[in-house]
Amino acid sequence: MMETSDILLLLLSLIISLLFLHVTKLRRRNSQIPNQILDAEGQIKGNNNLPPGNTGWPFFGESLDFFSNFQHQTPQNFVLERCRKYSSKIFKTSILGEKVVVFSGAEGNRFVFSNQKTLLKHWYAASVAKLFGKNSKVMNDNEQTQMGRKFLSSILKGDALKSYVVIFDATIKELLSQFDENSENGQMMMMNDHQIREKLAEKYTITSACKIFLGMESNVEKINAHEQSIKVMLNGLFSLPVNLPGFALNRAINESKALLKEIETMIRERKNMIDDAKCSNNVVNDLLSEMIQPTDGGYSKVVHDVGTALLGLLAASYLGIRITAINVLKHLAEFPEIYDLVLKEQEEIASSKSTETITWEDVRKMKYSWNVVCETLRLAPTSIGGFKEVMMNFDYEGYMIPKGWKIHWNTNATHWNPEYFPNPEKFDPSRFEGDGPIPYTYVPFGGGLHTCPANEFTKFAILIFLHNVVISSGGKRKFSMA
Ligand code: HEM
Repeated sequence: MMETSDILLLLLSLIISLLFLHVTKLRRRNSQIPNQILDAEGQIKGNNNLPPGNTGWPFFGESLDFFSNFQHQTPQNFVLERCRKYSSKIFKTSILGEKVVVFSGAEGNRFVFSNQKTLLKHWYAASVAKLFGKNSKVMNDNEQTQMGRKFLSSILKGDALKSYVVIFDATIKELLSQFDENSENGQMMMMNDHQIREKLAEKYTITSACKIFLGMESNVEKINAHEQSIKVMLNGLFSLPVNLPGFALNRAINESKALLKEIETMIRERKNMIDDAKCSNNVVNDLLSEMIQPTDGGYSKVVHDVGTALLGLLAASYLGIRITAINVLKHLAEFPEIYDLVLKEQEEIASSKSTETITWEDVRKMKYSWNVVCETLRLAPTSIGGFKEVMMNFDYEGYMIPKGWKIHWNTNATHWNPEYFPNPEKFDPSRFEGDGPIPYTYVPFGGGLHTCPANEFTKFAILIFLHNVVISSGGKRKFSMA
């Protein structure tokens, strides 16, 4: 959300931009064209046919429209309107302070996902770089692909993931009984069902993430404080890349520094615990302990790298899992016939077991419920897509894509395309039955080298949440649309 001070600064910057535009227009007619495609005489060399579209005002470009759609919770409109206006395959714009070419359609996604490292390199928006630090493991493409991704896989998939099932299950069971207690003693009287859904999903996501990634116990006060910090950070991620007092990004950077400091202290404490345990032959065996392995850069580098990675994982969890869980419950409240099918599946699983504890194998059986989650992620993907930087000029669809520009692939561009998903606005989990959508059209977790390493983690987190919420309602639709 932009505040008054943000708007004033924005207007001031707009005026400066207008002056700048006027002066540079007088000075150089070719100012829109990057040097890489101009020859020695300043003439355009090769194919000078830039994709159709509008790059808007200098610096701001079309960012205001981009952010305004975010604020109104219609992020898909920014891309869909331009696909209609310019081309369904490719258009240019300027957002986040960068000239950007948006690739859309299955073919565009395929192109972007398969040309990473050759024509394109991974790129993070300035706000992300400022929040996580340009040189951190999260930001460094080479390190990320070589050791970072291996590391992420080892903590988010396979056996590691199996050990989180217990944490997810225990956390939601604990929260549901707390919520029941609170509603019995009248503490939730002022909340409608929608607010209860949101609160439950929020508390579930932050509590399980703090337990898994920071090795924390159920320390409600501390977990609530971390949640507040992460909210401020995420607010800054989706804001103008302006790091000045009063701007959301500035507040986010300060908050992330403070949280990182706390996490680093926790890492040091854990290191001491491990050392003590080694002396007494009593080794602590959890994710945090596993991550603290000194490397060539020495122990302090490990503390900083691990701290930054944990900060990123907490923020990504809070963003992706919380929003998806809220949206799934919203759809179940909206579509009783779909709710009934989910309930039937979950009851069958529950009645086939002798205990209430959910296992890895149980989650594997939740096929229909997973289709409901997939359809939720189609209509409301929690990531708008990703960005790449163009490493050399190349032609695509007859257009010149200049070196240095950014490329954006966008989830909504295919998820909302009636050619791939007929009646795209209709919530219809049956789209995921059989072979499901055609390749490269359903891309909530991205694709290629930088595919989300947490897709299975997310699946388990959400299905375990869903099972418990549905079963605990005892066959009644606990959450109405109120
Ligand atoms: C509904 C949930 C989620 C969705 C829709 C989602 C989506 C995505 C997408 C689209 C990307 C690729 C971005 C790009 O190509 O630039 C990505 C990357 C990533 N995601 Fe997720 N994500 C989700 C949950 C999570 C969670 C829970 C975590 C961590 C616990 C996580 C960690 C990451 C990381 C570390 C990357 C960067 C991978 C890389 O660059 O190699 N995500 N995610």
